[in-house]
Amino acid sequence: MSNPYLNFIGGRWVPARSGRTFFNTNPATGEMLGEFPASGPEDVADAVEAARIAYRSWRLVPAPKRAEILYRAGEIIRDRKEELARAMTREMGKTLAETRGDVQEGIDMAYLAAGEGRRLYGVTTPSEMPNKWAMSARVPIGVVGAITPWNFPFAIPSWKLMPALVAGNTAVFKPAGDTPEMAWHFARVFEEAGLPSGVLNLVFGSGSQVGDPIVAHPGIQVISFTGSTEVGLAINAQAGRLGKRVSLEMGGKNAVIVLDDADLALATDAIVWSAFGTTGQRCTACSRVLVHERVHDDLAQRVAERAKALRLGDGLDPATEVGPLVNGRQVETVERYVAIGRAEGALTAGGERATQGALGRGHFYRPTVFADVRADARVAVEEIFGPVLAMVKVKSLEEAVEINNASMYGLSSALFTRDVNRAFQAMRDLETGIVYVNHGTTGAETHLPFGGTRGTGNGHREAGHTMLDPFTEWKSIYVDFSGHLQRAQIDNN
Ligand code: UN1
Repeated sequence: MSNPYLNFIGGRWVPARSGRTFFNTNPATGEMLGEFPASGPEDVADAVEAARIAYRSWRLVPAPKRAEILYRAGEIIRDRKEELARAMTREMGKTLAETRGDVQEGIDMAYLAAGEGRRLYGVTTPSEMPNKWAMSARVPIGVVGAITPWNFPFAIPSWKLMPALVAGNTAVFKPAGDTPEMAWHFARVFEEAGLPSGVLNLVFGSGSQVGDPIVAHPGIQVISFTGSTEVGLAINAQAGRLGKRVSLEMGGKNAVIVLDDADLALATDAIVWSAFGTTGQRCTACSRVLVHERVHDDLAQRVAERAKALRLGDGLDPATEVGPLVNGRQVETVERYVAIGRAEGALTAGGERATQGALGRGHFYRPTVFADVRADARVAVEEIFGPVLAMVKVKSLEEAVEINNASMYGLSSALFTRDVNRAFQAMRDLETGIVYVNHGTTGAETHLPFGGTRGTGNGHREAGHTMLDPFTEWKSIYVDFSGHLQRAQIDNN
């Protein structure tokens, strides 16, 4: 059978013009999963041209009709949830329970964005002049470039592309090199749902060969990026110089705060899930715990015991609780930080690769906990994006909030307490885009805005009631039906 994994440009499945390819592998087993086009700027140019042409007619399709395609896509994804989840686990390693959740976010987002097809509300307001009508409407912007990461390879493209398309934009989509197959499924779903040719174009390849040309291409008006802060800020600088709109979701160093009145069993469950779910590879992962000194040792012991007992393995095995890291580079980053952490705190769990038996074929690392770490230690400050947790002693909620807010990132934070007054104080004072009370730092729902402050973002929010903001602009329209010249601010004063 010929290789099905091709770029999707102007409604056709095509190889990279250069004919070059790259391989996709399973991080749990090293198995080769497929061969994908290693595209270049010429392929991006083809995709932008297709998107530009499609935009002329797509923007004129009534939004409720555009939405019908999203509803169909949602149904196709729902019907294929299990198949997609298994493909995702094979491709990037997280457990089946988690990949089912990732696909479910795609389904939720399809229906949520489709609902906007019958809303896309604008605002009417009285004119200051007689016999004159005033209103404002959301309009699409043009061609959106979506650059997405490997950790949520179905959910994150859904957050970006579904609102962009329902609003009447067309798109060029560049997925992460570690998860091309999920992007291929994403495009196939939309092809089957009846999306017109050229509305969604998919170009596989590297950041330098495909991502940078997308950012630089004058035919693309909006860049929506999720990934590292370093890459996001570089994109922001370049796209900013070109006058493009940029929506960024970047790093996190998310804290769980545990006060001395907290339910420690519940806090332990939440911390273990937030820190080691997705092998710590979530922007929202908990990577530090700011815990009251009176309960630090107790909590540290509970968390370490649970971390040590987590079962590592292939995410396709229902008994597995923690899958592999996505690739060898991530393992090396984790190793580097663990070496740093050994000098910064007490290692109470993990601290090494897991290589026995079948684990030796994959990128496995033991869930790692450092207790009694200083708040300014590198493992308590820098994003690691792996299964490494730092626990820091604090004396009060105020001190915890101060440490939380001093971070260069501001995505998610959480507080465990039974005191409603302190909970509301924290909800007011924690400067993150997402705040949880008596719940870990992960698990955002699609119908609430997602995003963060400081180094995590640039003010935009994805999904939620804010989903259209990055992908639309406002047009104010005045209709004068008086039949004569009326000068605003002049003739009525
Ligand atoms: C991410 O880590 O990039 O809130 C996204 C969560 C998920 C999305 C995470 N719903 O953890």
